[in-house]
Amino acid sequence: MASGKLLRQLIRSGVDGDDTGFRSISEALIAEERQKHHNLLANDLEKILYGSDSLSSSKSVAQLNLKQSIPVDKERGLPLLELKEPVRGLNEVVLGDTNRESIKRILKEYNREEILRSWGMRPVERVLFCGPPGCGKTISAEALAFELNRPLCIIRLDSVVSSYLGETSANLRKVFDFIQSSPVVALFDEFDALGKERADVAEHGELKRVVNTFLQMLDGFSGQSLIIAATNHEDILDSAIWRRFEDVLAFEYPTVAQIKNLLGLKLRGVRREFEYTKQVTGLFKNTSHADIERILKRAIKDMLLDGEEFLKLEHIQHALKNEKARKKSLTKSTRKTAAK
Ligand SMILES: Nc1ncnc2c1ncn2[C@@H]1O[C@H](COP(=O)(O)OP(=O)(O)OP(=O)(O)O)[C@@H](O)[C@H]1O
Ligand SMILES: [Mg+2]
Repeated sequence: MASGKLLRQLIRSGVDGDDTGFRSISEALIAEERQKHHNLLANDLEKILYGSDSLSSSKSVAQLNLKQSIPVDKERGLPLLELKEPVRGLNEVVLGDTNRESIKRILKEYNREEILRSWGMRPVERVLFCGPPGCGKTISAEALAFELNRPLCIIRLDSVVSSYLGETSANLRKVFDFIQSSPVVALFDEFDALGKERADVAEHGELKRVVNTFLQMLDGFSGQSLIIAATNHEDILDSAIWRRFEDVLAFEYPTVAQIKNLLGLKLRGVRREFEYTKQVTGLFKNTSHADIERILKRAIKDMLLDGEEFLKLEHIQHALKNEKARKKSLTKSTRKTAAK
């Protein structure tokens, strides 16, 4: 039987109408029963607490009625996160073998969550995505949400980090409360904002406290959401952060085979005059998936504007030229901004 202390607290929270307290005490009670290997009772309690179908079938943003409760930053009144209904599944993402296997494994853990829970275990809850821009971190998070039939919740850490440091911890608390209240795929984007700021800012001690708060919240997280952190700057994350993630997926520029798959995917339904030969895939060496996609879109537009029915290699070459010019002007303007 549950300890008298927890039962007293549970009834007190019910009488006081304290929803958050009721939830966390119930979770502590379930954990206690599980520790005693009363797995069936713990499962039943969990079903009562989260709803009978919460473990196996998930719901959309509208069904969960989440939009109304999006937390905002007190100082600026801006939303701290963005909720999205995922539309692209795993078959819309080109991945290397290792990452595809890792993602399939994560899905398996969630799809067979009940078995794991009946043994007192939980599916993977914290995953780190790292790698250069445009190589599939966000789209992979979307695909995970799509396959799990959950909303995708994107948290941009740079907007959570407030100019008033005390407010940052409060913002983080609001975000964690939100993702704890419903099962979502929570993507903490630009995750390095926390680590980076710590090195730059004079109030080093305060920011360190914010990072520690974040880590404590991660450690204390007991909801059913899958937490993904994404960064382009994995080198500046310290070991305390790395340690928290059970799985790390590295996203890189596509290999020749992946470029071929990407061309097949992004040119689906487009009639073309060329095959995906080495000469063609070679045009996209050292180019991110997102850049390849942009080049292809431009080439297709050119084809349409030229009144042609077939995509020609010249359309691609022309779009590539344009991309090079675009990159050049971007580099120039970045240099100018840096010099100011
Ligand atoms: N591996 C991929 N497979 C298919 N499409 C991709 C892939 N990677 C990127 N894309 C396309 O490029 C777009 C941008 O990619 P995405 O947002 O996933 O990049 P990212 O790694 O999150 O970049 P950033 O670090 O800038 O956030 C996607 O919406 C998708 O259309
Ligand atoms: Mg991204």
